Amino acid sequence: MILHERTLQLVIFVPKKSNFLKKREKTFLIITYCVMSEELQPSKKIIFSGMQPTNQLMLGNYIGALRQWVGFQDSYKGIFSVVDLHALTIRPNPALLRKQTLDFIAMYIATGIDPEKSIVFVQSHVPEHSQLTWVLNCFAQMGECSKMTQYKEKSEKFSQNVGLFTYPVLMAADILLYQTDVVPVGADQKQHLELARNLAERFNGTYSPTFVVPEPFIPEEGARIMSLQEPTKKMSKSDENPRATIFLTDTADEIRSKIKRAVTDSGTTITYDESRPAISNLLTIYSVATGRPIKEIEQEFNGVGFETFKKELGEQLVTFLKPFSERYTEIRSQKDFLNDVMATGAKNAQNIARKTLRKVYKKIGLTEIE
Ligand code: TYM
Repeated sequence: MILHERTLQLVIFVPKKSNFLKKREKTFLIITYCVMSEELQPSKKIIFSGMQPTNQLMLGNYIGALRQWVGFQDSYKGIFSVVDLHALTIRPNPALLRKQTLDFIAMYIATGIDPEKSIVFVQSHVPEHSQLTWVLNCFAQMGECSKMTQYKEKSEKFSQNVGLFTYPVLMAADILLYQTDVVPVGADQKQHLELARNLAERFNGTYSPTFVVPEPFIPEEGARIMSLQEPTKKMSKSDENPRATIFLTDTADEIRSKIKRAVTDSGTTITYDESRPAISNLLTIYSVATGRPIKEIEQEFNGVGFETFKKELGEQLVTFLKPFSERYTEIRSQKDFLNDVMATGAKNAQNIARKTLRKVYKKIGLTEIE
């Protein structure tokens, strides 16, 4: 058990040789204090993560990130956001953005995030995210933002707006506001996480320890699920080719058809091999959908053709995703419930975020009204 400051004070105030309390009584007093004081319970570590409400959640988001969030929420304090401010960088249609924000909250819950255990909230409901971003913008270097792969890719595709450039700083603010220990994400976010760590260390070094320096958690299997049509490119919510992506809301027929039409590599064997990204990707998806190791699946399909394998994969995926889409349909129709989740989430998130921001403002010299 970790002894808290106040317990230590208690020990000091009862001198060792005092006759006031016998040794056994002193021990009892300390133990009772430890058990009774909630502050002495070792607090859970914090995980934070988020997803941009563009289009719909897809298989890559689930396998690379959401699956880990669900798995972590008992042993960590989970804080999960629908990061609508990030989505503004591609100037989405306002009505769609509003709808998709609710779709995402409903899908988080449908896939297993429990709003009773974890904080589930919408980023724009907690203004501290934008406020801390401004402060961190003044610590981030032009060079480190312009080398971000996602910035380079997205600024070619969309207009080159300043939001795209400072996007990873907003992401750092999301993470640092909650004194996050671990950030479960897919491999594509690794570079952004590095920036968050650098900004935390830079700020802590300039002033005094203020932010926890977060660790990324990137899964060994499924950290980068690839497009079904161009398997050298990651699967994406916003791929122009709808056949490239399996959405968690796809119907059984859509799933079967997308898997059937998924491209395959040259060669005929169903084996995992990085030089054959298409079949390796399908094997990873099969493994996640069935919970079986890839080696075992390779053995099962030894000597079998791609067509049979893909047909079986389609069926496995339909079975795997069915409970998500059924729960999603049910939850998505409960507007009042979703509203309550957002309201409670925003309140709880803001309670934490406000404390961090106040600390930051104080350290950098912003004036408080007394
Ligand atoms: P976003 O919305 O693009 O993706 C959400 C999560 O899904 C993961 N992911 C994938 N994993 C495996 N294979 C794929 N093909 C795949 N595509 C996406 C992403 O790695 C991510 O974990 N910038 C973030 C959102 C964000 C965030 C944050 C994340 C904003 N603030 C703070 C963590 C912490 C993004 O655009 O994710």
